[in-house]
Amino acid sequence: MWCCIKFNFNFAEFDLPEKHEAFDAHANPQDKDFMNDILCREAAHLRGTGKALILDGCEHLTTHALRRSGFTDANIVIANSNESTCAALQACLPQVDVRFCSMIDCLESPAQERFAVVYLDYCGSFGGRQSTCAPSYEMELLFSKKLNERAIVAYTFCKRTAVRMDPSIPDSELAWRTFQHIACKYGYVTRNVASRHYRQMFTACFRVERIATTSDFLMRDM
Ligand SMILES: C[S@@+](CC[C@H](N)C(=O)[O-])C[C@H]1O[C@@H](n2cnc3c(N)ncnc32)[C@H](O)[C@@H]1O
Repeated sequence: MWCCIKFNFNFAEFDLPEKHEAFDAHANPQDKDFMNDILCREAAHLRGTGKALILDGCEHLTTHALRRSGFTDANIVIANSNESTCAALQACLPQVDVRFCSMIDCLESPAQERFAVVYLDYCGSFGGRQSTCAPSYEMELLFSKKLNERAIVAYTFCKRTAVRMDPSIPDSELAWRTFQHIACKYGYVTRNVASRHYRQMFTACFRVERIATTSDFLMRDM
């Protein structure tokens, strides 16, 4: 059973990049591939246990990674709030459930669905305050009602180049701790299987598993 909670904080890597340093995904293809390759490896263990919910772009690199791990298109759900990207994805991935909506909409929906693999590959920073992107709220929705008992969850964020949410703590640290806190709150133990900082991005992937909590026992005794 995956059951160790690991806190491998690495304060040495919390450099903020120069302002205006634009991220070019193709400048360093191995950076871009890093988390998709991890996801491919990890998702293979959960093939057949449920669907994957991902943020994917026009090149649908994450969909390719999931296919490599044995996921069929029918088991992939993509949320995308950009109209043209969404239309392009729908046109080239007709068997995939591509939803023109924000991740919040997808996670707030009353649909009774739970996911085995989730990749929150945002274009933004952890403190994103747009109405369509609130990562900590989305993590809360995910763990409270949209995740399988055993799952893989990965995220990628941009490092904030201007004002941090909390200047005393790097955004990557805040994202990590928030993720751990929310997972724990809903009875999940986590094991980090990969994490990396590159240029102005940071990314992490976790195996998570829900364990019986006190309230589960109380409910059973009633
Ligand atoms: C960084 S790209 C995904 C890249 C892809 N996973 C890959 O490896 O190539 C993020 C995509 O998701 C969309 N997106 C970002 N944040 C979103 C959100 N909160 N809700 C819905 N779509 C979002 C963007 O429009 C963009 O097309």
